[in-house]
Amino acid sequence: MGSRFKVGDLAEAKRAGRPIVMATGYDYVSARAIDAAGVDIVLVGDSAATTVLGLPVTREVTLDEMLMLTRAVRRGITNAMLVGDLPFGTYESSDEQAVATARVYADIGCDAVKMEGAGEIASRVRAVVDSGMPVMAHVGLRPQRLTAGEAARVEGRSADDAMRLLDDAHALEDAGCCSMVVEAVPASVMALLAPLIDVPTIGIGAGSSTDGQVLVTTDLLGLTDGHVPKFVKSYADLRVQMIGAFERFAEDVRARRFPDEAHSYGVPAREVEALQQRLAQRA
Ligand code: KIV
Repeated sequence: MGSRFKVGDLAEAKRAGRPIVMATGYDYVSARAIDAAGVDIVLVGDSAATTVLGLPVTREVTLDEMLMLTRAVRRGITNAMLVGDLPFGTYESSDEQAVATARVYADIGCDAVKMEGAGEIASRVRAVVDSGMPVMAHVGLRPQRLTAGEAARVEGRSADDAMRLLDDAHALEDAGCCSMVVEAVPASVMALLAPLIDVPTIGIGAGSSTDGQVLVTTDLLGLTDGHVPKFVKSYADLRVQMIGAFERFAEDVRARRFPDEAHSYGVPAREVEALQQRLAQRA
């Protein structure tokens, strides 16, 4: 059994130049597999809205839905650090709201919460950090800003945009975040910004200069049906394998090949005979 990855290990990994590995997790079974693979951090991302719940955008997932998934993942991991994503509408209104929501995640057993937003949420981040809950920030593309039908766009494509992104990163760093997800930023831009950010950065579609990488697990496993962003690398083709398995199951049932003897419970022959006699008497 490996050792537990903790919030303090983020800065240590950055200092040592050891890449941080994060994957999203949404349920007990996959959380156990991610943990067994030695992934450092499991993020219960609000991407669950689209990947698990079939909603059009992340901002439609509710706190209750996120909490149910987060509890399941908590039960599945032993060594990985657990980060819970605060869903849209649960932390932006006031510092008190942000702290109260983060406390629910702390009670479930999350090691940190992720809060999507730029400099405008720096005060919320500080309040949550001051309450004792570590915060992973999230800059660059922020899916919670997208409404149904709105396309995601790459951030930091102009010098002005990139400078804004750096200012946001510094504001969140000053607010005390322990690390930062950077999403959908050109690799060459991130190569210039990364050395100027002190906290560990974890990239998704932001090139190779960040201190770690995260992928959405359903994309990584090849489970996504339809469009996947350019930055996704699939390490398996599970959707094809799943469809094949369900097809073979359906064929076996329809052909009465399943269940066979190997997949059925047995009973001593004398008991079957006794039962036949009893049934005959009753008839
Ligand atoms: O919700 C999510 O899965 C995320 C990752 C893309 C970082 O925020």
